[in-house]
Amino acid sequence: MSTVDILAIETSCDETAAAVVRNGREVLSNIISSQIDLHTLYGGVVPEIASRKHIEKINQVAGEALREAGRKLSDMDAIAVTYGPGLVGALLVGVSAAKAISFASGIPLIGVHHIEGHISANYIENKELEPPFVCLVVSGGHSHLVVVRDYGEYEILGRTRDDAAGEAFDKVARAIGLGYPGGPKIDRVSKEGNPAAIPFPRAKVGDSAYDFSFSGLKSAVLNYLNSCEMKGIAICQADVAASFQKAVVDVLVEHSMHAVAESGMKKFAIAGGVASNSALRSALEKECQKQGIAFYHPSPILCTDNAAMIGAAAYYEYQKGVQHGYDLNAVPNLKLGER
Ligand code: KG4
Ligand code: ZN
Repeated sequence: MSTVDILAIETSCDETAAAVVRNGREVLSNIISSQIDLHTLYGGVVPEIASRKHIEKINQVAGEALREAGRKLSDMDAIAVTYGPGLVGALLVGVSAAKAISFASGIPLIGVHHIEGHISANYIENKELEPPFVCLVVSGGHSHLVVVRDYGEYEILGRTRDDAAGEAFDKVARAIGLGYPGGPKIDRVSKEGNPAAIPFPRAKVGDSAYDFSFSGLKSAVLNYLNSCEMKGIAICQADVAASFQKAVVDVLVEHSMHAVAESGMKKFAIAGGVASNSALRSALEKECQKQGIAFYHPSPILCTDNAAMIGAAAYYEYQKGVQHGYDLNAVPNLKLGER
C-alpha cells in the first residue's frame, strides 16, 4: 500500500491543534495547544480571545507537528483543515493558515467537517473498525445519534433540540461552583457522590425516540439549587453532580441502544468531548456487552478537540479524490454530510 501522509489543522474552538496522520489510522504527531487557562478567567470561551490566540500559535503548532513526526512539509500528500462548524473567527485562522500552506507548497487542500473528525477519531485506535456502525457524538456544541453508512456518508437519526450534552455539563458545573471546563470536573466530583440522591428528570422528546433535550434537566438542577438555598439546606456538590451526570448518561445510553437495536447493527462507537466521560463509557460498555454489540471509543485525548481526528477523516476524503479550492471558507453552522 502506498503511504499517504496528511498535515491536519484544527482551530474550531479553543484548542490550536496540528497533527501528521499516515493512511488515516497512524498518528505520527498530535500537537494540542490548549487555551483553557486563558478562558477559565472568564468562565467560558471568549471567541475574540480564541481567534487571537490561534493566530499567535498556529505556525508554531503546525511546525511542531511536522518536526515531531520527523517529516518535512514537502513529504505531505495533503493539507487538511476543519472548516466548520465552530466559532467563525477561530475557524478562519485554521482555514487561512491551511490555504496559505497549500498555496505556497502546491500540496492539495482538504476541508473537513469537525464532527466527521470526531467520528473518525475512532479509526485511529480501532484499526479493524469500518463502516457501517452507529455513533453517538456528544461534544460541547453537538449531540447527534448517527448511522455511519460509509466513510463520509452519514444518516442522522437524532439530535438535541436545545443544549448539547457538553453544554449542559458546563452550565451545571458553573451553577454548583465547579467552574470551567465543567465536564471533566463533574466527572471527577461525581465519583464521590450518590447518583441516586436526587431524582432529576430523564427528558423525553415526545415525537422522536432519538432526539435529545437537556435544557429541562439543566433547569431542574437550577430549581433544586434555588429551593435548597431558600430552605437554608446546604447542597452536597458531589451528590448533585453525580445525580445530574446519571440523568444525562441514562438518556444517552437508552437512545443509543434503541438506535443500535432498530438499525440491526452490531457495532457502536462514541465520539466528542463528552465521550471521555467515565460514567458514560462504563455504562455503554456494560450495555453493549450485555447485548453482544462491539463497543468502540477513542482514548480521552482523541475525544476532545484535536487535529489527528481531522487527519483521519481527511484520508478517506483524499481517497475519494476530494480536494478544495482556495475559495474554501469557514462555515460556522456547517451541517454533517454537507460539502
Ligand atoms: O469535543 P469537544 O472538545 O469540543 C467541541 O467540539 O465542543 O467537547 C468539549 C465538551 C465540553 O463541554 C466539556 O465540558 C465536555 O466536552 N467534556 C466532558 C468531559 N470531558 C470533556 N463532559 C463530561 N465528562 C468529561 N469527562
Ligand atoms: Zn469538537
